[in-house]
Amino acid sequence: MNKLVILMRNSFLFISFFIIMFSLGFLEAQKVPAIYVFGDSLVDVGNNNYINGTFAKAILPYYGIDFPTKKPAGRFSNGKNAADLIAEKIGLPTSPPYLSILSKVKNNNKKNVSFLGGVNFASGGAGIFNGKHDSLWRSIPLKEQVEYYSQVYEQLKQQIGASKLQNHLSKSIFFVVIGGNDIFDYLNSMDLQKKNTPQQYVNSMASSLKVQLQRLYNNGARMLEIAGVAAIGCCPTLRLKNKTECFSEANFLSFKYNEELQSMLKEWQLENKNISYSYFDTYAALQDLIQNPTSHGFVDVKNACCGIGELNAQLPCLPSSNICTNRQDHIFWDPVHPTEAVTTIIVDRIFNGPSKYTSPINMKQLLHESIAKSLSPFNFLLLLGLVVTCYYQTKTI
Ligand SMILES: *[C@@H]1O[C@H](CO)[C@@H](O)[C@H](O)[C@H]1NC(C)=O
Ligand SMILES: *[C@@H]1O[C@H](CO)[C@@H](O)[C@H](O)[C@H]1NC(C)=O
Ligand SMILES: *[C@@H]1O[C@H](CO)[C@@H](O)[C@H](O)[C@H]1NC(C)=O
Ligand SMILES: *[C@@H]1O[C@H](CO)[C@@H](O)[C@H](O)[C@H]1NC(C)=O
Repeated sequence: MNKLVILMRNSFLFISFFIIMFSLGFLEAQKVPAIYVFGDSLVDVGNNNYINGTFAKAILPYYGIDFPTKKPAGRFSNGKNAADLIAEKIGLPTSPPYLSILSKVKNNNKKNVSFLGGVNFASGGAGIFNGKHDSLWRSIPLKEQVEYYSQVYEQLKQQIGASKLQNHLSKSIFFVVIGGNDIFDYLNSMDLQKKNTPQQYVNSMASSLKVQLQRLYNNGARMLEIAGVAAIGCCPTLRLKNKTECFSEANFLSFKYNEELQSMLKEWQLENKNISYSYFDTYAALQDLIQNPTSHGFVDVKNACCGIGELNAQLPCLPSSNICTNRQDHIFWDPVHPTEAVTTIIVDRIFNGPSKYTSPINMKQLLHESIAKSLSPFNFLLLLGLVVTCYYQTKTI
């Protein structure tokens, strides 16, 4: 091989290397800028701490016992929850609770706060419907969460302008985890049961959710990660209704709601431009862990780790409760919420699939779709042109 050929090859490799680095840098610059979170206690990271006079707060031991601070952290978990773990997967810090940002603004008189890094609006106890809005278990129902988001949207629009904001939001993830509390409410309310058949109730859940999703879309949301409801009949609280076995009525409602949710999402996507979403089948993914516990290192699928009485499910997790020693081998942390160990597996499945749990795509594919969108045909041709030019230049040296 003569020296010229070697030189040619080396310079081609050299230039290609820079082009590849350039392209990677370009893709890197397109990564998700923010996550906006809506939902219930599965993704609340502390909003409820700022609600006066509600018992729905994770502020007492043993909540947070496995959190990095080892203290109650406003998460209804022994450790991190799905909002934290999704942010980790994407490489972003956890989006802060909306009400914590508001209270900082009030206390420091700071006029401008940035919501561009993501915001979490979720509230423990929240439902699609307004539910226990006025009781001692007050929370921020979805409709109000979306109203708060609209205020954030207007503020951002003033700060950076509509077109920059649309560009930012269309690359951001909107993570929605809600519906479980509406099913609990139906099971606990003779009145709701008299007024609606189970099918009517889950239909109206899905259509009410659609109204809120449309409001998010009208204010810029384009990329959504939406979780279905788990097999909540298998949580310790509801197992008490069926001699420690799963309560089938609750599971039936969850299953039917998830069916409605999926067909609503398909229809909604067709009605609007540029929506991409990933639906996660929480029901199937959790059932898999409950039915095949040992393959994931779980031993106890029935008892709450922290609680009192039969299945540790007769009272909530309180400082005076029993607590299990191995949180890794329990499916349930308290009478209704999963352990961090379960959430970690669930979040991995949200992100990577397999496709039996995610449709039409998983979250990783959702992010790639957004990168593909921003890598416009023009940019792609420019890159291709550069590579071809370099190749011919090195050939004709
Ligand atoms: C909650 O109570 C505190 C102290 O009483 C008060 O400053 C704050 O405005 C209240 N917040 C709401 C949302 O009502
Ligand atoms: C506040 O907003 C103004 C204009 O939007 C901006 O110039 C300034 O840098 C902001 N200040 C902080 C501390 O973010
Ligand atoms: C109780 O559990 C058994 C076994 O899983 C199931 O067949 C039955 O339908 C359940 N009954 C109720 C009322 O949930
Ligand atoms: C859809 O995406 C295209 C290409 O990015 C854009 O030009 C158009 O404005 C978007 N339409 C809506 C309604 O978001």
